[in-house]
Amino acid sequence: MSQLFPGEVFANTIDFDHGIRQLLPRYDEIIDVIPRCLPTSSRYILELGCGTGEVSLKVLKRCPEAHIVALDYSPRMLQFAQAKITAAGYAQRWTGIQADFGDWAINPEDFNIGREFDACVSSLAIHHLYDEMKLKLFQQIAASLSQNGCFWNADPILPESPTLAEIYQAVREEWASQQGTNLADIRAKLGNSSPQGHSSQDQLATLDTHLQMLTQAGFQTVAVPWKYYGLAVFGGWR
Ligand SMILES: C[S@@+](CC[C@H](N)C(=O)[O-])C[C@H]1O[C@@H](n2cnc3c(N)ncnc32)[C@H](O)[C@@H]1O
Repeated sequence: MSQLFPGEVFANTIDFDHGIRQLLPRYDEIIDVIPRCLPTSSRYILELGCGTGEVSLKVLKRCPEAHIVALDYSPRMLQFAQAKITAAGYAQRWTGIQADFGDWAINPEDFNIGREFDACVSSLAIHHLYDEMKLKLFQQIAASLSQNGCFWNADPILPESPTLAEIYQAVREEWASQQGTNLADIRAKLGNSSPQGHSSQDQLATLDTHLQMLTQAGFQTVAVPWKYYGLAVFGGWR
């Protein structure tokens, strides 16, 4: 197996949808919260790091008029996403683009996708960027949203103290055990990744740092609609 890109997680892409549900507490809640935070009337939505399309499917179901432009740099993940979107009958409302969203943040003019999105969503992807790039990305997202446009991101967050780090880790262990497995067995299915484009292995920031970056990037209202130990859904309106 060749080296994975950061964020692909599992050595075999086919393991992702099941494995991520074992690895991450309440993954299904996370991918429910994001679409719930979108106006159902949203028409043009940008998704960053769509992976195998789990969030896309939920968003397309909730927003019946929406078209999603989904960026992901992994051809393997995009292939899975495209197959699932097509099987669900949403092919006409979803465009997958193989691209690094860090490149989009720096040179949006190289991407012919416009700058009038009603919403931008992302899940478990942006934490692979260094903080400097996270800020650039948040700025580009803010600049690419229509008036009243919103951005919602789900990501793991940096524990604020060593005690919390232990607690967050224990919660993940407990979660794996509730799924009838353990983190060691799940980790045996993970692949090795090396830095790719703007992403490298986890570059976590605290929730507070994320919220400050969103404000700095131009979001007028910043919010955290969901948090569970070391995982959060956060974002806001520009
Ligand atoms: C853990 S997966 C999450 C996929 C999906 N959002 C979900 O929640 O199921 C992270 C995805 O982000 C993509 N990714 C990470 N860094 C990226 C970057 N700089 N540009 C584009 N895609 C990236 C990976 O290829 C992967 O598909």
